[in-house]
Formats: sequence, C-alpha cells, structure tokens
Amino acid sequence: MISLEEAFKKFLGRLELTDREQKDVSARHTAIREIVRAGIGVDRDILSGSYKRFTKTKPLKDVDIFFVLKASESAWLQRPPEELLVHTRGLLVPSYGEHAVALGRRSVRVDFGVRPLLDETDEKVISNDVVVAFADCDNYLIPDRTIGDWVRTNPEIHAQLATDAHAAYNQRWKPLVRMIKKWNDYHDRPVKPSFLLEVMALDILNRGFGGHYSLELQTFFATAAARITETWEDPAGLGPPVSDRLASDPIQQLKARQALEAAAENVSTARRLAREGRNGDALKYWREEIFGPLFPLS
Ligand SMILES: Nc1ncnc2c1ncn2[C@@H]1O[C@H](COP(=O)(O)OP(=O)(O)OP(=O)(O)O)[C@@H](O)[C@H]1O
Ligand SMILES: [Mg+2]
Repeated sequence: MISLEEAFKKFLGRLELTDREQKDVSARHTAIREIVRAGIGVDRDILSGSYKRFTKTKPLKDVDIFFVLKASESAWLQRPPEELLVHTRGLLVPSYGEHAVALGRRSVRVDFGVRPLLDETDEKVISNDVVVAFADCDNYLIPDRTIGDWVRTNPEIHAQLATDAHAAYNQRWKPLVRMIKKWNDYHDRPVKPSFLLEVMALDILNRGFGGHYSLELQTFFATAAARITETWEDPAGLGPPVSDRLASDPIQQLKARQALEAAAENVSTARRLAREGRNGDALKYWREEIFGPLFPLS
C-alpha cells in the first residue's frame, strides 16, 4: 500500500497536463483558428483561461481559445452581444455539426465527442470554449449573454494573480486549485462557475503553505463554505462579480454551501483515519468521498 504522501503525489501527477494532451489541445486550436479566421477579422488568438494558467483540472474540457478581433470588426459592439456569439457559432457548425457547437454565456463551446471512462480520456481534450474579444485599452471587451452587454476582462491579470499566489505558496497553490476543481467536478459541480473556486482560493489560501495538502484542503473547504454567499468580485476588478451566477440562484447557492461543508467534514474524517493509522481506509475515503477515481489506492 502507498503512503498518503505518495498518493497525493501520484494524484497530482495525474492532474498535470501530459505532452500528448497538450499536442491534442494545440491541434484543436489550430483547426478552430483556421475556421474562425476564415469568417471574421482576427488580430490574434491565444489559449487562455485556466488551461493557460495551469489551474485546470482533468479530464480536460472547456479549454478557452481567446480571439482578439480586428478593430475593423468593432461594429459588433453596437449590436446585442449575443449576435456575435451566434455568428461565431455559425462559423463552427459546418465543421463540427449542429449538436456539437453550443452557445455559452460568454463563449461558444465545441464538443469533440470524447467521453471519459473513470476520468480517463486517452489524453484527448473534450471541448473548447471559443471566446471572441475586442481590445479595449489594456483590457478586453467580451459578450455576455446573461447580462446582455459587453463586459470587460483581462486574462493577463488573472494569469499574473495566479502566478503570484503560486509563488507565495511555495509552488503549491496551483496544484491545490486543480485538486479543489477536481472535487467540484466529481460532485457534479455544485460551485458554478469553477473559476469562482480559483477566485476564492486567491483570498483564502494566502497564508503560505503549511506543509500538508490535507490541512490546506480542510481550511479551504471550511472557509469557502462559510463565505460562499459573499460577493466575489472579478479579481482583476473589471468584469461582473464571479459569484453573480450563484447569487442569482439561491437553491444552487445552498447546494454549493452544503457541498463545501460536506467536503470539509469528509477531509476531516480522512485525516482522522490517517491519524488512527488506518491508511487504507483513509486512501479509500479520499478517493470515494472526495476526489474520485484519479485518486490512487496503490
Ligand atoms: N466575472 C468575470 N469577469 C472577468 N473575467 C472573467 C470573469 N469570469 C471569468 N473570467 C475570465 O474568463 C476566463 C474563462 O472563464 P471560465 O469560466 O472558462 O473559467 P476558467 O478560469 O477557464 O476555469 P475552468 O475552465 O477551470 O472552470 C477566466 O479564466 C477569466 O480569465
Ligand atoms: Mg475555461
């Protein structure tokens, strides 16, 4: 049987991006780039979001491709933001099919039909989110269908905040965020969007790494449960609150709080089992109650 420390190491290894996965993402990006560029004026396009920051969990899905449109396309800004998303979807449908391309709140999702088995996808990316943006001084304007307006964002600032948090946490902050998002996925995403967990982690995990992942996780879940009803602003200070979706849905917000409380409780139990020398039971607990099949038993 492996030790808890080894199990976390192996688990974290399984949450890292492999070369083959990155190659698959790159091939998908190239294909989507060609299609989008053929239908609208694009200045540049980059991989962004949590994928770019290394805070994405696995299996890999909704990898963001961020297209900065040319100024010559700025007439879109005078129209309802949904129209640009509908247009972008229309560019992708002929290649991927009507059912594989869906409008999201701020992006268009392309699903590649990869179905995970016990959280494994043979190192294939499941879906991409295509974001279309306009440069706006140092920031960007992107369409938001929920708000019905253009909202500001800045992926570079989010990336810098994550880099800084990671450095201040003895290089353990990003792995912790990947684990926390894994917990969320395994429990059918009670916290929506999962970017909210990363934003909360910027605030909650700020005292430096104490030496044990399990203790950090317990602190995070317990504090996040107590603070999930707060307003969590965009940490770049530009866009709408990252908590606006949960705040608009009290039932989902309650589910999120209960799930976070249960997580804190479960981590506490797993830690107790380990303290009592019941290593096998502790491993099973981490896998079955907290993280799912990517957490190893051996
Ligand atoms: N409320 C917001 N205001 C401004 N920018 C935002 C806001 N919400 C998200 N973003 C930006 O858009 C990016 C993509 O959002 P998305 O919801 O896909 O999250 P993500 O960080 O990619 O997380 P994950 O895919 O792991 O859930 C974020 O990484 C962030 O840079
Ligand atoms: Mg994303």
